[in-house]
Amino acid sequence: MVLDQSNLLSSDKYIENYRPQFHFTPESNWMNDPNGMVYYEGEYHLFYQYHPYSTVWGPMHWGHAVSTDLIHWEHLPIALYPDENGAIFSGSAVVDWKDSSGFFNGGKGLVAIFTSADGPVQTQSIAYSSDKGRTWNIYEGNPVLIEESCPDFRDPKVFWHEESNKWIMILAVGDHVRIYFSEDLKSWDFASAFGREAGSHEGVWECPDLFELPIGETNIKKWVMLVSIGNDDAHPEGSRTQYFIGEFDGKTFVNDNPDDTVLWVDYGRDNYAGVTWSDTLEERRVFIGWMSNWKYANITPTKEWRSAMTLPRELSLISTWEGIRLAQTPVKEIENIRKEKREWKDLIIHTNSENILSICTGKEIEILAEFELDSATEFGFEVRTSNEEKTLIGYDATKQELFIDREHSGESSFHPLFACRHTARLQPERNRISLRLFVDWSSVEVFANRGETVMTDLIFPSGTSEGVALFAIGGDVKLVSLEIYHLNTIWK
Ligand code: FRU
Repeated sequence: MVLDQSNLLSSDKYIENYRPQFHFTPESNWMNDPNGMVYYEGEYHLFYQYHPYSTVWGPMHWGHAVSTDLIHWEHLPIALYPDENGAIFSGSAVVDWKDSSGFFNGGKGLVAIFTSADGPVQTQSIAYSSDKGRTWNIYEGNPVLIEESCPDFRDPKVFWHEESNKWIMILAVGDHVRIYFSEDLKSWDFASAFGREAGSHEGVWECPDLFELPIGETNIKKWVMLVSIGNDDAHPEGSRTQYFIGEFDGKTFVNDNPDDTVLWVDYGRDNYAGVTWSDTLEERRVFIGWMSNWKYANITPTKEWRSAMTLPRELSLISTWEGIRLAQTPVKEIENIRKEKREWKDLIIHTNSENILSICTGKEIEILAEFELDSATEFGFEVRTSNEEKTLIGYDATKQELFIDREHSGESSFHPLFACRHTARLQPERNRISLRLFVDWSSVEVFANRGETVMTDLIFPSGTSEGVALFAIGGDVKLVSLEIYHLNTIWK
């Protein structure tokens, strides 16, 4: 059965309370993980875990949208429906340029690789499309990978590995990942396992990714493995995404860091199951995450729709005083939705400074600021403020911590752990802290210094909480530069 979505495809929905103005959301109903991201013939595809019949998680379909700039999205009909092998869980898509699958009569096309979830049984299946992802054929030989002894066996991410001339699949298997290889995307051989002893195990492993990135501007490359870890009641952080840096030879991943090193992609509470686009031009590595947390994802206070994606972010590796780390920058295309610019330079902010930003009220804004540390023990921004509500994004100079405080950010009664302040270690660079913030109708994202420390958080302020302010506590801080842009909606 194909769902009639004609009543969903209108843009007048994008105005209700909490609806993000420049982040991707489905037109209606439930969404979780981003899936099948691939760039092909001028379009970025974004598929996603979708339950089209309600605003809570249910039998999974792959929703579908396309974009030419990663910012403005066109909704397309559902791509994959549950079938006799089960619901369609998370997975990836690749361009089969040389028809290694034999699906394309010697031409090229898209192949999606995903988990079929039939009750407790999880297997891997494939589907293919010869019309730019508009229609999909389910492979009659599904499932293509079965492992009866593994109850958690899901979220295949596939890529072409030039050196070994093979397709590689990385798969989450409970407390580790497994790597498989294939010549035709249909038959898969086991290569290796990684991670039983490494990284964080504060939840089930899900949604892995594996890709190579250069270190800074050098020619030296490293492999980065992303692994999301699910919610566990024992941990207030809920679901999060960790990463590893190391070497990969087509068969085995070797971690550069000791097993007990845990590296987080994002120190906020709401960036989960993120993976990267396949086949992007110029080896650009673009990531997008699901902007929610399994701790409360099903009960956030939205009505028509539930859950958004993070901004798409370009990934890089940088050298820091702690070692090589992953850095994130919002894709440059986001600058195209900037409206007028307001600018300040060389100001001293102190505890009782008058609010110079009272002219900047707004609910969809970008802020770029560079601070030079002085006597203030804490400083930063208050956003989405009113007499009752505010979200703080700031730096604690004493503890050397970046923080988001959503204690009084708005509606939070839906979960006892939602209202909180959380932190991330951040060292000043040449005594300076730079912050880039994106504020939308129900989220804040902060990219600090070179993007090595990132925090993404949902907030649910009232629609009338629109104030913006600077703050400093315990002394002065120098604001070296400040730019503020209001942003256009992407849904016109
Ligand atoms: C991660 C996840 C995946 C699974 C999907 C089901 O959020 O649990 O492991 O494939 O969601 O919707």
